[in-house]
Amino acid sequence: MPDPKNKLSTNSEGSDPNWFAYATEHSEVIPDLLIELEKETHQKVLQPRMMSGRLQGRFLSLLSHLTQAKTIVEIGTFTGYATLCLAEGLAENGVLHTIDCNEELVSIQERYFKRSIYDSRIIRHIGFALEVLPRIKGPFDIVFIDADKENYEAYFEAVLPKMRVGGLILSDNVLWSGKVLHQADPKDYNTLALQKYNTKLREDPRVQTILLPLRDGLTLSRVLTNHVE
Ligand SMILES: C[S@@+](CC[C@H](N)C(=O)[O-])C[C@H]1O[C@@H](n2cnc3c(N)ncnc32)[C@H](O)[C@@H]1O
Repeated sequence: MPDPKNKLSTNSEGSDPNWFAYATEHSEVIPDLLIELEKETHQKVLQPRMMSGRLQGRFLSLLSHLTQAKTIVEIGTFTGYATLCLAEGLAENGVLHTIDCNEELVSIQERYFKRSIYDSRIIRHIGFALEVLPRIKGPFDIVFIDADKENYEAYFEAVLPKMRVGGLILSDNVLWSGKVLHQADPKDYNTLALQKYNTKLREDPRVQTILLPLRDGLTLSRVLTNHVE
């Protein structure tokens, strides 16, 4: 349950729509390859909104650099935008495993990964994440959960025992266009799953969690222990 102590009495941390554009303009320059991938995703792929945006992409890159990640796992590749951002911070000899069940996305992923300097370090898995995850060897430094919302909790539990203590589990779209703020329709399974997941992460003593209102909501959970009770 949300803690009433955390409730704001004023809108002191509220946002202005122009802040986002300003923040993006005053952050690191976006690599040209990512600009191209973003454009092609918008032109040719259904539901381009699923792609991590520019600001979130830069944030993922920074987190990956800060962690000096040796093993990153991404659940939900889509066209590979976040994959390339996360790969930027891989340690020497580090690898990034990315999983997606949609074979139609393979050609765009392959074309852009091949053009990047990270191609040899990106391992693509085609299949359902819960079936693929047990085959990927840990320890994991960063896991980016960004696939079907109903399975977020299952993904979290599947990766936690393989996380390095101090590693990061990132969960995307946790605000779900703001739907998590309101009572969900009993048939809106995605919103219900995310509401339950957000509460679970906050209360789980195995992680230190912060939900950032970045883009569609990005939660960072630092792993305190990887022992499952
Ligand atoms: C939101 S997109 C990922 C966006 C990408 N991470 C990015 O930031 O650019 C979600 C992806 O998850 C994939 N997906 C959905 N359910 C899945 C499952 N059970 N196993 C593997 N991939 C899944 C979809 O095919 C889709 O490409």
